[in-house]
Amino acid sequence: MKSKYEFPAGFLWGSASSSYQIEGAANEGGKGESIWDRFSHTPGTIGDGSTGDVSCDFYHRYEEDIALMKKLGLCAYRMSVSWPRILPKGTGEVNREGVAFYRRVLQCLRDNGIKACLTIYHWDLPQALQNRGGWANREIVKWFEDYAKVLYAELGDLVDFWITINEPIIAAMNGHWLQEHAPGYRDFSLALLAAHHLLMAHGAAVKAFRETGLKAEIGCSLNIQMEYPLNPDDERDLEAARFMTAHQNAFYLDALYQKRYPAEYLQALESRGVALPEILEGDMELIAQRTDFLGINTYFSEFIKYDDSRWPLSAAAGKTGREVTDMGWELCPDGFYDLMEWVQKSYAPGKIIITENGVACNDWVKQNGKVEDSNRREYLERYLAEAARAIEAGVNIAGYFYWCFTDNFEWARGYAARFGIVHVDYKTQKRTVKESAYWYSEVVKNNGFSPARA
Ligand code: FCB
Repeated sequence: MKSKYEFPAGFLWGSASSSYQIEGAANEGGKGESIWDRFSHTPGTIGDGSTGDVSCDFYHRYEEDIALMKKLGLCAYRMSVSWPRILPKGTGEVNREGVAFYRRVLQCLRDNGIKACLTIYHWDLPQALQNRGGWANREIVKWFEDYAKVLYAELGDLVDFWITINEPIIAAMNGHWLQEHAPGYRDFSLALLAAHHLLMAHGAAVKAFRETGLKAEIGCSLNIQMEYPLNPDDERDLEAARFMTAHQNAFYLDALYQKRYPAEYLQALESRGVALPEILEGDMELIAQRTDFLGINTYFSEFIKYDDSRWPLSAAAGKTGREVTDMGWELCPDGFYDLMEWVQKSYAPGKIIITENGVACNDWVKQNGKVEDSNRREYLERYLAEAARAIEAGVNIAGYFYWCFTDNFEWARGYAARFGIVHVDYKTQKRTVKESAYWYSEVVKNNGFSPARA
């Protein structure tokens, strides 16, 4: 182990969030209904029966949160825009109150010297567009492009980094196949169609961005991870892991960087009875627009075993006995390094920004007033060490955003999973900076760290 990990000059240290997870004010300021408002209010969808109606009330408390970011010395903050706060019906009339809110937040970041990284879509689709077919309707590519253009025109002067779409795979698969997320369908073919449209929407937004002449950078955030075979001596596990690599990673990366989808993956799905999306001439060109960086969200690695009961993937993640986080995700920091190396070798994306990485822990405020989250600090230390190792090996990682700044509404888990480096007491809205945040703050200040065990 090294005695000190150093990061390149100008490394972008930040923390991330998303609108539905933190804003609250679900029915304020002229906002329209989103699919997450509808979904979370449907009984049986959220583990703890909660909704994002209030959450950590960022809508009213953003100044306090940004002051904490400043105190901790963060260089950048990643947040998203709620589409129905800007366009309550998804298309058409712009809600000026919504625009004014985001301008206030972005201006506050700028006044505090914090760079703004703005995600255009982090899953809260206007319900009005879901009623017109949502991501399964090809027309959404145009709806999204028009929405993105509103943001470029109204907020463009205050944004440093744009992210078109957060994790197309989760929006598509968890929302349209696994029934875990809004809009809550169970149809693999529909999910694949949604994935194609999400990628096209990304491309259309990048293309429109270039036409604005804005100077900021733009990219997409993919949720990718290593898919290892559970038993490397078993040919069926090896094949299942290859298939999952295509499903989780290559479908999106091939499209963005090689203008195609993995042919074997699609053939296998078709042979298992999946209806493939219709791909028209020009679709792949639209998707594969040049971007300024690849956003990577990654939390764990998977160890895959063959499982023919799991249609249509015939693969499932097994357990290796590694430590697990509060989400049940296995800790595997070296998988982070392998992933960076694999992405670099396979796609050479130029610049990479880790737009999400983090851990849910069972945190509480102790009698001494502190949140002593040593597991999170350890997670951060081990993953950042792997990031430093990847940089040293030649991977151009230019930034790291810890997920998440404050504890928040963790989708299907509700408030039961705490990811923040700042604790939120949901009854009083009191913020408590966790010990891990103080450690992270030192890392940012020193642009590196000495491992505790060295
Ligand atoms: C990612 C999401 C993010 C958050 C983390 C834990 O998949 O993008 O909103 O929920 O997982």
